[in-house]
Amino acid sequence: MIKLKADSEVELMRQSAAILRETLLMVGELIKPGITTAELDKVAEEFIRSSGGEPGFKGYHGYPATLCTSINEQVVHGIPGPRELEEGDLIGIDCGVIKNDYYSDSTRSFAVGKISSEAEKLMKITKDALDSGLDKARSGNHLSDISNAIQKHAEENGYGVVRELSGHGIGKELHEEPQIPNYGSPGRGPILEAGMVFAIEPMFNEGTEEIKTLKDGWTIVTKDGKLSCHFEDTVAITKNGPEILTR
Ligand code: MF3
Ligand code: CO
Repeated sequence: MIKLKADSEVELMRQSAAILRETLLMVGELIKPGITTAELDKVAEEFIRSSGGEPGFKGYHGYPATLCTSINEQVVHGIPGPRELEEGDLIGIDCGVIKNDYYSDSTRSFAVGKISSEAEKLMKITKDALDSGLDKARSGNHLSDISNAIQKHAEENGYGVVRELSGHGIGKELHEEPQIPNYGSPGRGPILEAGMVFAIEPMFNEGTEEIKTLKDGWTIVTKDGKLSCHFEDTVAITKNGPEILTR
C-alpha cells in the first residue's frame, strides 16, 4: 500500500527537505582536494542539528554517519572517514534528514577540481535521467513511467543501470512502498496520485551494471571498477504536478 500524505504532512516534509537542501549546498561548497569525507560529515551533522533536524541515516540499520560519501567506483553507501578528496574525483553525497517526524532524502554528485570529460558526461546524463524521472511524477501516470524515463537515458548512452537498488516511497519511514526501479517498461504498476511522496534516485555506471559490497558491509562498488554516479531528490506529487521538495 502506498501511503498518501495530506497537504499538512507534505508541509512537514517540505520543512525537512529544506534543511536537507541547505545541508547539501553547504557541503558542496566545501568540496575541494584535501578535505576528508569525515570533515564533510561533521559539518553536515552539526548543520542539521542546529537547524532543528536529525540526521536521517545515522543509526539506520546501524549506519554510522550522517552522509554517505561515495567516490568514483563507489556506487552508494560509502562511509565517511580519513580519506582525502583528490583532484579528478567524482563524489556522491547522499543525506537524509528527519524533521517533524518526517524523512527527506537527497543526493548530489560533485566534481573535485577538474574531472575527466567522461566523468562530466556521466554526471550530466545521470542528472538528466533524474530530471526526466521527476517529471513523470504526475497523477495519472503509471509508476513505471518514472522507471522507463530514467532507463532511456542510460540506454542511449551505453551506461549500466544498477538493478539491485531502487528509489522508494518516503514519509515517516525512510523507505516506504513502492520500490521505484531505475529501469522498466512504461505503463505498468500503480497509477500515481496526489499525496504520494517519492525519493527518486538513478545510479548509473560507466561500465557494467554489476555491483558488489565491500567488507565494511556498506560500501557498494562497481564490479569492474569503473565510475558510477548517483543523484536523488524527494518529490511530492501534487494537483499541480511534481513538487521537488529537496530543490
Ligand atoms: N538514499 C539511500 C537510500 O535510499 C540512503 C540510505 S543509506 C543508509 O537507501 F545508511 F541509511 F542506509
Ligand atoms: Co533514497
